[in-house]
Amino acid sequence: MRKKLLLGNWKMNKNCAEAREFAEATIGISKFAKENGILVGVAPTYLALKTVKDHNSELIVSAQNVHFAESGAYTGEISISMLQEIGIDTVIIGHSERRQYDNETNQKCNQKILRLVQNKMTAVYCVGETEKEFDQNLTKAVVEKQLKEGLKDLKPEDLQYLVVAYEPVWSIGTGKNASKEIAQDVCAFIRNVVRELFEEKAEELLILYGGSVKPENVYQYLNQEDIDGALVGGASLKVESFTEMINNLVK
Ligand code: PGA
Repeated sequence: MRKKLLLGNWKMNKNCAEAREFAEATIGISKFAKENGILVGVAPTYLALKTVKDHNSELIVSAQNVHFAESGAYTGEISISMLQEIGIDTVIIGHSERRQYDNETNQKCNQKILRLVQNKMTAVYCVGETEKEFDQNLTKAVVEKQLKEGLKDLKPEDLQYLVVAYEPVWSIGTGKNASKEIAQDVCAFIRNVVRELFEEKAEELLILYGGSVKPENVYQYLNQEDIDGALVGGASLKVESFTEMINNLVK
């Protein structure tokens, strides 16, 4: 049985004081989730990673990005060993906002994912089509390319350090969430592509849906056969909605 995972992506929100407040206020619900077999975590900005870790040891704390190089002349970047130093072992890779605003290509994502798995760290690899691609019926072609290029040269045993998040770009922050049928169909397709690449290891892969997930709709996604969790933006920022999502999953 695959575990369930609820991961909040805070994007460029919450300073250290706000992150600390959230971390402290969610200790109880994080424990409750764990007791009920649900993994929960948040991805704060780099600056607040340690704050959240120090104030709620029950949460998975994920970075939102990392650089693939070990060190060097990369102004403004953060390396894997810097994350390791503060105990971070999970990183979101290839979020559509990074693909859109920071020229994150499948090849760049691949370099980062390879370095993460070599370091036994988990990469949460985001894939998903734009609205135009969705309208042109290109979803599966786009997602397949993102998977094949992003996961190039990974070995089947590396899959234990991989989570894939299907996030249709048109549903992120728009309130226009994909229906559970569309989400399940694409997540099943993702598992098939991963099966083609890594055979039976695909059965263990956690696949998340992301895009306008809220307390009211989280259960319908996690109830689908190939959806093992959710990557949540807006609704993960408030203690109340974060708590409600967990409660609705346990029900
Ligand atoms: P949203 O964001 O839940 O606010 O739509 C999802 C994401 O960007 O991961």
